Amino acid sequence: MAQPRSQLAAVILAVVAVAGGRCSGYTGFEFREATVDAIQLGFKNGSITSTALVLFYLDQINSLNPLLHAVIEVNPDALQQAAHADTERASSSDRSGGPLHGIPVLLKDNIATRDRLNTTAGSLALLGSVVRRDAGVAARLRAAGAVILGKANPSEWSNFRPVKDGWSARGGQTLNPYVLSADPCASSTGPAVAAAANMAAVTLGTETDGSILCPSSLNSMVGIKPTVGLTSRAGVIPVTPRQDTVGPICRTVPDAVHVLDVIVGYDALDAEATGSASKYIPVGGYGQFLRMDGLRGKRIGIPNGFFIEGAYGKGKIQLRVYQEHFATMRKHGAIVIENIDIASNLTALLGDIFANENIAMQAEFKLSLNAYLSDLPYSPVRSLSDVIAFNIAHPMEERLQDFGQPRMIAAERTNGIGSVEKAAIQRLNELSADGLEKLMEKYQLDAIVTPNSEASGLFAIGGMPAITVPAGYDGRGVPFGICFGGLKGYEPRLIEMSYAFELATKVRRMPGFKP
Ligand SMILES: *[C@@H]1O[C@H](CO)[C@@H](O)[C@H](O)[C@H]1NC(C)=O
Ligand SMILES: *[C@@H]1O[C@H](CO)[C@@H](O)[C@H](O)[C@H]1NC(C)=O
Ligand SMILES: *[C@@H]1O[C@H](CO)[C@@H](O)[C@H](O)[C@H]1NC(C)=O
Repeated sequence: MAQPRSQLAAVILAVVAVAGGRCSGYTGFEFREATVDAIQLGFKNGSITSTALVLFYLDQINSLNPLLHAVIEVNPDALQQAAHADTERASSSDRSGGPLHGIPVLLKDNIATRDRLNTTAGSLALLGSVVRRDAGVAARLRAAGAVILGKANPSEWSNFRPVKDGWSARGGQTLNPYVLSADPCASSTGPAVAAAANMAAVTLGTETDGSILCPSSLNSMVGIKPTVGLTSRAGVIPVTPRQDTVGPICRTVPDAVHVLDVIVGYDALDAEATGSASKYIPVGGYGQFLRMDGLRGKRIGIPNGFFIEGAYGKGKIQLRVYQEHFATMRKHGAIVIENIDIASNLTALLGDIFANENIAMQAEFKLSLNAYLSDLPYSPVRSLSDVIAFNIAHPMEERLQDFGQPRMIAAERTNGIGSVEKAAIQRLNELSADGLEKLMEKYQLDAIVTPNSEASGLFAIGGMPAITVPAGYDGRGVPFGICFGGLKGYEPRLIEMSYAFELATKVRRMPGFKP
């Protein structure tokens, strides 16, 4: 990483030339915005190697990370893994040929890897901790031949410590590559920003309530928040197993679908959730739902209260663009149903969700974090109370004066899932049943469409899936997204709709680093 940029650039050129030399010399592979499909094609026709790709992304990280702070750690073994993938491909062993073989992947720093990378959720308290094994999703990536490029910056403790969006003690402040002064959103900020700025081919984030959908929306990314249990949470620093889920953040829907295909599935270390969700995984995978005509015949509900000027800073530009998008959906055969109510009072519903989520999550966070920490073969901290004490002992590094740690302290005061927590969880189940689930049933919807991550609470409490896709840019150039959400296991139809929408609109463009 300390290598001067020009030297690294020279190495890249040399490597690309050598790789291209196998065919017909340098073939001018376009690294920027390269999709998984383009990369696989490049592997096949000899215009690119995994090694050259890793060098490209390392160079991007080298030049952009001092500004964006999207990456916390680069994997010292990434080039070796890439070389291995290149060798495997050359000898065409069984493992080559999968869509992520040789593809550099960046992981949010709460996803454990058993290698030279640290897994810290952005906190200095966990630096030096040793994990027992790869997280379930990381193990699947490795088995598919992907290259682990490094770890991306989360908001500390996956947002349970409410800090400035995108900030972590280890990673610093992640900026939005489109408009540097704009909110990049939490807590999978690093993955979203890194993918947006071409610092990785694809990335993985995690979501408890909005942490994939929000940063994806505000950084012109595609984010898939899978049905809870579709992807294993084993080895992921937790907030609550009731809502936590791991999903891809990528530049295109097909890229995200390729990643999803690799990371879904049963994991004995997250047996209950992955066991019950595995029935949703389609035979033949998710790629078959990348259909150009994916909007045709789909019933899409637009719940009242979301597309309103002023709400969440939405202005006239966004509202006009969203209206154009509804027209595009109709043009492509969707039945768009407006003027439907998810609740008699949406503000009250979202407030009710937020309040009860907080009650349940405080207790669940303490239980699950303590379980995670106590399972580590080595760790400087062994419990939530150790972490709180660590933060108090390191007030400058952890910016205690700015952010405090009130939710951590409140969580520490809880004592398991008692009657208060049970009542809150029951209330959340009712709010889901009487809200999203009832609406979907009543109008026989394939999806509801909402702006950015504004409906994330509706999806979070029921463990429901959602996909956000780039929708536009506001007057300052800040991206915004459009979100297709549904019921458990609706990934196939959400992929159909979001892919057809992406093809019809092609909104994403590269970031311009405006002030
Ligand atoms: C190989 O495929 C890539 C697309 O991934 C393309 O850009 C390049 O021009 C192709 N090169 C050759 C020699 O066919
Ligand atoms: C992991 O953290 C240690 C400090 O404890 C550091 O020396 C090491 O470089 C980190 N690993 C990577 C891959 O950055
Ligand atoms: C909706 O609920 C909010 C919050 O509970 C309340 O402030 C508002 O007055 C309610 N609106 C209506 C129209 O009842």
